[in-house]
Amino acid sequence: MNSGSITIHPARPNAEDGLLFAHYADEAAEGSFRILLGRRAHGILAAVFVEPDHDYSYEHVLLAEAGGSVVGMAQGFRAVPGRCLANQPLLRAAGPRGRILRWAAAAGHPLFRIHSTLREGHFYLQFLAVEEGHRGRGIGPALIDAIEKRARADGSLRFAVDVWDRNPRAKHLYAGHGMTAESYWPRRIVIPGFGLVRMTKPL
Ligand SMILES: CC(C)(COP(=O)(O)OP(=O)(O)OC[C@H]1O[C@@H](n2cnc3c(N)ncnc32)[C@H](O)[C@@H]1OP(=O)(O)O)[C@@H](O)C(=O)NCCC(=O)NCCS
Repeated sequence: MNSGSITIHPARPNAEDGLLFAHYADEAAEGSFRILLGRRAHGILAAVFVEPDHDYSYEHVLLAEAGGSVVGMAQGFRAVPGRCLANQPLLRAAGPRGRILRWAAAAGHPLFRIHSTLREGHFYLQFLAVEEGHRGRGIGPALIDAIEKRARADGSLRFAVDVWDRNPRAKHLYAGHGMTAESYWPRRIVIPGFGLVRMTKPL
């Protein structure tokens, strides 16, 4: 897919794309992986990325390239009922840090609460990030278009994303793609901006 000088292509199951995925996933998750998994976070994510059939797999990743360099990433997948952190390769690859992931999941960390909130037919955009120096050039919108195309081709019925209320740029971007706020977490946002907004659109 081409949008001006931007090319969007599926990721390949190798270490190089795995490290790119890790970099952008952590950026989209505001550094949560580094906090939870420590210094080995990117290596752990890159290692599980090459395995098929789970949420962090290369299969769900699109990379954006401009001028011969990767400048952004989108990752999204069709909801799989019953899938949870416990059967994710991520937990195995995390080793002793897996304990921290389990605690985070039990405490309702946004990274792991998605499984219990997605329904059959949902396609979930889990990570979207563009390299800082390349923002504002339409790369984010092009990545969303491409991942939404996947969702439609997959026969999904609803496109969903969770975005921090304090992230006006991302909220504006999703609203521009016809997504509207469906729910909030926590249900009542006590501190303005400090909560997640689930934005969705029918496909
Ligand atoms: C969010 C992100 C992916 C957007 O990608 P991008 O390529 O910069 O997107 P663009 O700026 O081209 O388009 C986004 C829209 O937001 C607008 N925008 C820019 N800054 C804004 C701000 N502070 N408030 C509201 N809207 C803003 C742009 O004008 C554009 O709108 P338009 O198409 O109507 O002109 C990118 O900023 C990013 O990687 N952020 C860090 C990671 C992140 O927050 N990911 C989302 C997690 S849910």
